[in-house]
Amino acid sequence: MAERDNKDTSRRAMLAGAGMATAIGMAAAARAQVPADPRTAGPIVAGRDTQLGGKVAFVTGAARGIGRAIAVEIAANGADVAIFDIAGYVSPASNAKPATPEELAETARQIKALGRRCIAIKGDIRRIGELRAAHDRVVGEFGRIDIVVANAAIQRWRDLAEMQDSDWNDVIDNNVNGTANTVRAFCGSMLAQGSGRFILVSSMQGKHGTAGASSYSASKHAIIGLMKSAAEEFGKKGVTVNCILPGLVDTALTRYPARWSHVIGETQDDPPKNPTEAETWNNRTPRVPLRVAWLRAEDISPMAVFLASDASAMCSGANFEVTGGDSAQDV
Ligand SMILES: NC(=O)c1ccc[n+]([C@@H]2O[C@H](COP(=O)([O-])OP(=O)(O)OC[C@H]3O[C@@H](n4cnc5c(N)ncnc54)[C@H](O)[C@@H]3O)[C@@H](O)[C@H]2O)c1
Repeated sequence: MAERDNKDTSRRAMLAGAGMATAIGMAAAARAQVPADPRTAGPIVAGRDTQLGGKVAFVTGAARGIGRAIAVEIAANGADVAIFDIAGYVSPASNAKPATPEELAETARQIKALGRRCIAIKGDIRRIGELRAAHDRVVGEFGRIDIVVANAAIQRWRDLAEMQDSDWNDVIDNNVNGTANTVRAFCGSMLAQGSGRFILVSSMQGKHGTAGASSYSASKHAIIGLMKSAAEEFGKKGVTVNCILPGLVDTALTRYPARWSHVIGETQDDPPKNPTEAETWNNRTPRVPLRVAWLRAEDISPMAVFLASDASAMCSGANFEVTGGDSAQDV
């Protein structure tokens, strides 16, 4: 009896062992069937979130502001960069003063001073033909395209009840159609090569409403919808699509007294019409967790470098906020 019990126990142990061995064998076989995927972020390597050597980038709205900072910081990390900007008048529905050809040339100078190649193109994102021509020139001269930053936009401050048609239509056309044109003109090459990065610049105003700037807010919501749809379409080809959402940044888009008046108007009904910069800074700073009223363009560009790098391989369809802490007040 005792001998039979012993035999049963050892048989059960043998069967359990065999079962476990089979399970381990099956798991190993299943793992072996997962292909080594070049799209992953790969092993830990110091600096892999910034290294862009050998890559080629295209940045719209790069004559100044956030676009310039992104273009220059991408170049500073090793990529050749083509820059594209209207460098002139856009629409009556743009509150910012127009950018200039000299500003576009200055961005090119900064990129070349870093030892990188640069093509500067004066063009309009509302005209897809100009973007397709830019694509062909970039791929013709630099041989490839890896990173596209759709950054160009305008902003209009006008209440809905007082809007002219252009206050709505021009902002939607410029920001939504222009961003979609940029994606459409460049996606073919990246899908064909099986890799690439689209970085679309939206805004925190693409997550919540903005009294007095509804066409801008609507356009920035739409860019997030475009980004998510493109991420769904392009993912299987190894192309990622993400948005950067800046908080308030000190650029020509925001640096003028009427805009500062809107900033103060966020907390009081009757803001001064022409507040000073210092008055505005003092009003907003206590409301921002990191205690800055606004960020600098160079605070936004490191996020673009990360999203352009191999380290972001598994980021797609997502919003990346750089806000000085304003994000804490948002879901
Ligand atoms: N400054 C901010 O507080 C802030 C906040 C959130 C998001 N953003 C976004 O960041 C991006 C850059 O803004 P910025 O603050 O640097 O503004 P900016 O006005 O300094 O720069 C925008 C650039 O885009 C160019 N541009 C506009 N329409 C164009 C067109 N049709 N074709 C070609 N170029 C065109 C302009 O000429 C200009 O050089 C925009 O998408 C903006 O909406 C800015």
